[in-house]
Amino acid sequence: MDPGAEAFTASLGFDRRLWPHDIEGSRAWARALRRAGLLTDAELTALLSGLDAVHAELAEGRFPFRRELEDIHLNIERRLTELAGPVGGKLHTGRSRNDQIALDERLYLREILGHVDAGLQAVQAALIARAEEHLGAPMPGYTHLQRAQPVLLAHHLLAYVFMLQRDRERFRDCARRNNMLPLGAAALAGAAFAIDREALARDLGFTAPSANSLDAVSDRDHLIEFLAAAAILGMHASRLAADLTLWATSEFGFVEFSDAFATGSSIMPQKKNPDVAELVRGKTGRLYGNLTALLTVMKGLPLTYNSDMQEDKEALFDSVDTLEALLRVIPPMLGSLTFRVERMREAAGANYSTATDLADYLVRKGLPFREAHEIVGRVVRHGIANKRELGDMTLEELRGFSPLIGADVHTALTVDASLAARAVTGGTAPEAVARALAAARQLVGPEPRR
Ligand code: ARG
Repeated sequence: MDPGAEAFTASLGFDRRLWPHDIEGSRAWARALRRAGLLTDAELTALLSGLDAVHAELAEGRFPFRRELEDIHLNIERRLTELAGPVGGKLHTGRSRNDQIALDERLYLREILGHVDAGLQAVQAALIARAEEHLGAPMPGYTHLQRAQPVLLAHHLLAYVFMLQRDRERFRDCARRNNMLPLGAAALAGAAFAIDREALARDLGFTAPSANSLDAVSDRDHLIEFLAAAAILGMHASRLAADLTLWATSEFGFVEFSDAFATGSSIMPQKKNPDVAELVRGKTGRLYGNLTALLTVMKGLPLTYNSDMQEDKEALFDSVDTLEALLRVIPPMLGSLTFRVERMREAAGANYSTATDLADYLVRKGLPFREAHEIVGRVVRHGIANKRELGDMTLEELRGFSPLIGADVHTALTVDASLAARAVTGGTAPEAVARALAAARQLVGPEPRR
């Protein structure tokens, strides 16, 4: 091969990380060949101990990689034949690199999905811990990034726990569809030997063998699902990071990052930059990019296998590495935050944040909501003109807007009353949040051991 073409087509540089799964698949394939009567017991033993030797070389970093052998599959097979002798040449009977790579990727993804679930659980546990610590602390809730109504900080943090729970469900769903055996599809038409694929599926822990050999070697939708779930998770992580970076500004002043998760500026001595959170947000870009890359690679490919599909790996690995990095850094970052609860409470009560509560108060006195909304709009305009918050207005002043307003109005307009009123399931009242917290704890399960 032309040296430039050889370097261009090689995948060894990146597919080598699949080696443990390649060997696991080969062991199972050797056992399947034995069951089909294509190997003797002695040959099987020789192949398995040869594969053990190759495994040891790879695990100990002394495997002699050969650049001229395109990919990890050819490298392992060649080395097996060197170590085990000519019997190594029997391993590839009835098998193709097309079903082999499809298998390796499914085995790899199965393992990764286990880590991702544990990592997500750790992020959820960190959020729950912070929510529990600040169970009664109010903050302003925002819509349009304008102060809207008071909410509990715990309510805000728990919102992310539920988002991440759906991410976990998406990855679990992906795992379920990933768990199908492609091996035995051979190049595209199915192995020409009497391989018991049901037994092979059981051996490798798959639910079932693929029902269509063309589909088995040519689809990558399980990887695309993974990349899509990773992209959505990235979007969630990015929003969390965006909230925190905003809260860390002097303008908000709601949170402080510990020095361990921030850096200084090279020119401005007073700066403390929330780099970790910024990069959590920034890394989401590559998660989207990898999804788009693989969707684009697969689009328009005629059945079945095409070399284009070799381009699935770097996108996959980059998303895996990015996810693992995100999931490792987020829990300790969350743990290190100092919430400025006094400042949050103060902000929660400012800017007419309980105006809706005044309208609700009038509704409870019998006024239709639209009329109440109108009246409170006038009260707020009056307040702005006179630089007075609702709570600063006298009863007489308020009664000027509606005779329905009584002596009990001021207690209805406090932050605590506003929170307490929202006791519906899923609302921000302390008791509702306590119930949501219990539900979240239940969903998330016991703390993962990492
Ligand atoms: N390196 C290839 C890939 O990653 C393995 C399968 C190659 N099959 C082939 N017939 N060239 O997709």
